[in-house]
Amino acid sequence: MPDATHFYEPRHGHRLPHDPFNAIVGPRPIGWISSRSAAGALNLAPYSFFNAFNYTPPIVGFSSVGYKDTVRNCEETGEFAWNLVTQTLAEAMNQTCAGVPAQVSEFELAGLTPVASRLIAAPRVQESRVSFECRCTQIVQLRSADGDKVPTWLVLGEVVAVHIDQLLLKDGVYDTAGAGHVLRGGGAADYFSIGPEQLFHMTRPA
Ligand SMILES: Cc1cc2nc3c(=O)[nH]c(=O)nc-3n(C[C@H](O)[C@H](O)[C@H](O)COP(=O)(O)O)c2cc1C
Repeated sequence: MPDATHFYEPRHGHRLPHDPFNAIVGPRPIGWISSRSAAGALNLAPYSFFNAFNYTPPIVGFSSVGYKDTVRNCEETGEFAWNLVTQTLAEAMNQTCAGVPAQVSEFELAGLTPVASRLIAAPRVQESRVSFECRCTQIVQLRSADGDKVPTWLVLGEVVAVHIDQLLLKDGVYDTAGAGHVLRGGGAADYFSIGPEQLFHMTRPA
């Protein structure tokens, strides 16, 4: 009888048509990161190696596979903004991943409006219904288990200001299911959207 488990060590290859790693650790929230270079060039790019890591203070982070414009801007200025991707912004978000020269603004490419943040110099996406203004706390180059440096940078930032469309606050409670969040799946073009039908409740044991 064949082994019912597909086992592999990533360093020796997965032996599948597509690497399942991203599909397993998914769907993931998208870090749609706006930043500004020291010279003032605006930048906007999606990062799905993104998540929240702390409550107080709130800390979010994203991982740049390669030293990309966003990580360089974060290093130069110590700031970035995070912007929520909802269904109506999915196409625009996708356009902002274009590999264009640093002086080209992805805001313009995607027809989006940069709006001034309140505490940081990096702009937010006006069309996005939730944004965080963040100050970088750590930029860490990742290492393998053998201790070798990996050409990937984890950028962590404290959320110092939050902007929420009032319509997403139902009796003061943020309406995740109603907001139309877009999440990244594993295939080259896979995305997920969530709505009230995916919501269920489970209380923690006392
Ligand atoms: C939905 C989505 C998620 C992405 N996630 C990542 C990621 O987590 N890390 C990364 O390095 N690139 C990721 N990319 C690719 C970057 O967005 C792309 O390389 C972009 O050009 C980087 O822009 P920048 O050089 O202006 O920072 C993603 C692209 C898309 C469409």
